[in-house]
Amino acid sequence: MNPDIIAAQMTRRSVVAGLGTMALAAGAASLAEAQLAASPPSGSHPMNEGVKPTDPFPQNPELTSQNPNAWSPPPTDAGDVNAFRYPFAVAHNRVTRGGWGRQVTIRDLPISKDLAGVNMRLEAGGIRELHWHVPAEWGFMIQGDARVTAVDTEGRSFVDDVGKGDIFNFPGGIPHSIQGLEGGCEFLLVFDDGNFSEFDTFLITDWINHTPRDVVARSLNLPGQTLDNVPKKDLWIFASSVPGPLEEDRRAAAGGAGGAPANAYSFRMSRQSPDKRTKGGEVRIVDSTRFKASATIASALVTLEPGGLRELHWHPNADEWQYFVAGTGRQTVFTGGGKARTIDFRAGDVGYVQKSLPHYIENTGNTQMMFLEMFKAPRYTDISMAQWLSRLPPGLVDAHLKLGARAIAQIPREKMVIVPV
Ligand code: CO
Ligand code: CO
Repeated sequence: MNPDIIAAQMTRRSVVAGLGTMALAAGAASLAEAQLAASPPSGSHPMNEGVKPTDPFPQNPELTSQNPNAWSPPPTDAGDVNAFRYPFAVAHNRVTRGGWGRQVTIRDLPISKDLAGVNMRLEAGGIRELHWHVPAEWGFMIQGDARVTAVDTEGRSFVDDVGKGDIFNFPGGIPHSIQGLEGGCEFLLVFDDGNFSEFDTFLITDWINHTPRDVVARSLNLPGQTLDNVPKKDLWIFASSVPGPLEEDRRAAAGGAGGAPANAYSFRMSRQSPDKRTKGGEVRIVDSTRFKASATIASALVTLEPGGLRELHWHPNADEWQYFVAGTGRQTVFTGGGKARTIDFRAGDVGYVQKSLPHYIENTGNTQMMFLEMFKAPRYTDISMAQWLSRLPPGLVDAHLKLGARAIAQIPREKMVIVPV
């Protein structure tokens, strides 16, 4: 069962006695209490009164301690908001001698309609079988090195080695493979279809085993008995030996013809200088304007220092699929109608924020936090709350928020993206 749902049910049980009374500013003893009490009174029913819950019968204390904003939510949270987190740690893992793979799709996280993700490990020499699929595949190397191959519609071969922080992108229908090099590797794959399944791709062995043998033999211009050794069960991920030098593989694959351009399907994201860097962290954006193959999937890699904050913003063009690479943090999504929910995130979690829903991400730990923002879109776009409010007639903003002209003039006019610590 989804741990977010479990945590939310626990929270609701613990606060049910308190529902129906709202925190009142009158009598608040401190400024903090006054702010707390003043924050939630409009819209949907508040979920709590800012009171720390007691728990005489603790269940699963490890999970509870990892989710402080579920157990004791900020008083600004209100109403029912669909879960927007699913940890890879609770996803089914398919394990072979060559490596393993697990996925988070719409079946696990029902709001994730546009994108799905796979976390995969390949041992040294381990091969993700030659295959293709309908959606596009975007990959991020988490650790180690891999050799990737593809052949494009012009028949040009692509062979490249990718390492930690590099990305690759195989457009829908382009056949490809991934192989672990010395030491093996781990990576993340993102597909531009939430309904995708890594266990239902078009595999070369599976295809051959489900095609009349004489048709395969004629198509490959081979005698039928040559096909006797083709494995009868699909390989998916299987053990093999580490391939030789890249240049040798490239030459052999091209066979005298010109290959695809060297970086047709790969991109060195880690070597790209940050688009934005503040004392709070940095962000690198890669979309089709920089990496042509990434025509349907845009991405941003965000690093937050301890205390760092990805500013309040939303994305007007697409849903955001997130993968948390390192660290711990929290995120609140406001869904309109007075509803909001805060969820804690940590390395290995998937998050999902629907198009135009405003959110922030805050590093709540004492180590660096890193995450990917992914979009089913050719371009990365966002709107910042600060930039929106600072580029309006100040009187109009003051009429709404009563901040005063001096405060309004202090709001940054440029997107901070990451608020300095
Ligand atoms: Co694939
Ligand atoms: Co965002």
